[in-house]
Amino acid sequence: MNMLAEPLQKFATNSLESHWLPFTASRDFKAEPRLVVKSEGMYLWDHKGGKIIDGSSALFNVAAGHGRKEIIEAVHAQMLQNDYSPHFQLGHPGSFALSAKLSQILPEPFNHIFFVNSGSEAIDTALKIVMAYHRARGEGQRLRFVSRERAYHGVNIGGVSLSGLMKNREAFPGVIPNVVAMRHTWDSENTFVRGQPETGAELAEDLQRFCDMYGASTIAAVFVEPVAGSTGTLVPPKGYLERLREICDENGILLVFDEVITGFGRLGAPFAAQAFGVTPDIMTMAKAITNGTIPMGAVAARDEIYETITNSAPENAIEFFHGYTYSAHPVACAAGLATLDIYEREGLFDRAADLSGYFLDAIYSLKDIPAVRDIRGYGMMAGVEAWPEDGKPGVRGNRLQKELFWKGLHVKFTGDTAIVAPPLIAEKSHVDEMVDILRQTLSVL
Ligand SMILES: Cc1ncc(COP(=O)(O)O)c(C=O)c1O
Repeated sequence: MNMLAEPLQKFATNSLESHWLPFTASRDFKAEPRLVVKSEGMYLWDHKGGKIIDGSSALFNVAAGHGRKEIIEAVHAQMLQNDYSPHFQLGHPGSFALSAKLSQILPEPFNHIFFVNSGSEAIDTALKIVMAYHRARGEGQRLRFVSRERAYHGVNIGGVSLSGLMKNREAFPGVIPNVVAMRHTWDSENTFVRGQPETGAELAEDLQRFCDMYGASTIAAVFVEPVAGSTGTLVPPKGYLERLREICDENGILLVFDEVITGFGRLGAPFAAQAFGVTPDIMTMAKAITNGTIPMGAVAARDEIYETITNSAPENAIEFFHGYTYSAHPVACAAGLATLDIYEREGLFDRAADLSGYFLDAIYSLKDIPAVRDIRGYGMMAGVEAWPEDGKPGVRGNRLQKELFWKGLHVKFTGDTAIVAPPLIAEKSHVDEMVDILRQTLSVL
């Protein structure tokens, strides 16, 4: 085991070996470690003292910026008051307060929230709610799920089953059966289109074809990210989500929006459901729910779904056999409440809507760079896709991510696409700083 060189020694133990890193090229990382040792506002600091602007709200979760004192104080106070109490057959006030507050920013009729600890757990929970609902209605034969190519729904077995990203599935073929994928909505005809493409709504007819092929009465639900996030910001074509909604309504299929990235103002409205004016049956959320401070996720269900499942069980019996030790952890609830207060007090969802025009203008100005293959964007979220190196998709993206970091910009990459999604507190000058670093780096490829 090699001793670490200064300045790493100051921050780490004398080895980086023990931690098995998530979604990381570990050997590459260990050869050239990048440790974040401090975060505040729009910035991160690395172990060498470099200051890095946060271009992806960390992992799309730190929407109100880093180091928010109000959240830290609420978490601290909650720890002192009640650090943890069990949730099975018991409650604590925070979860009721948080669910009521969430319902206020969710579309009607979403007044029932199930708490979990991550986006992946939210997806597994949503799958189970769907199954329990159909069973309670005497339609337990609806066991087929529809997803989409290029979808990302987290990493648990449920989410991997719905995944449309080959690398996320290929080593794990033992997923849940009976999942079929619609085509993704990226179209080479629509490169550099800003906002929703005019064409492509007909791709929603894939769902109708599945109804015709498998029998609509076997299909339980369709899971979609309203804007496909992790694959690099695929904005839904005009009319696409509306058509999915229609086909679901005509065939008794539930529509699930995975709002883990799009929730909490990213698109300039509380959720994508409001941004696009399409109301699903179930919504999953996580990430910005606590501004990234404490792990938390949630699933919101239409009242009718909650009532159907609840009323189908005998009096005094548990109605939904599901839950985690840390469902609605009191500390996460305190963080969530303080976070929602900030969003409300600072009007961050409206701020995102106001800043979006400037942000997208700046991002789309990168269009003239030859290395840029496509740009897509909506609200405060954009995908800047570089041409891949010959026959090696993702290699350039990996290299770019590192280069950008050392030049002072953190941005999340998937494959060769940078997903730019700044905290919603960003000023125009922060957007300029991000785009300048992107331009300098992409121009010399
Ligand atoms: C749309 C979507 N669903 C689910 C997840 C999984 O969330 P988590 O990493 O919190 O499990 C993500 C994470 O990026 C996501 O973008």
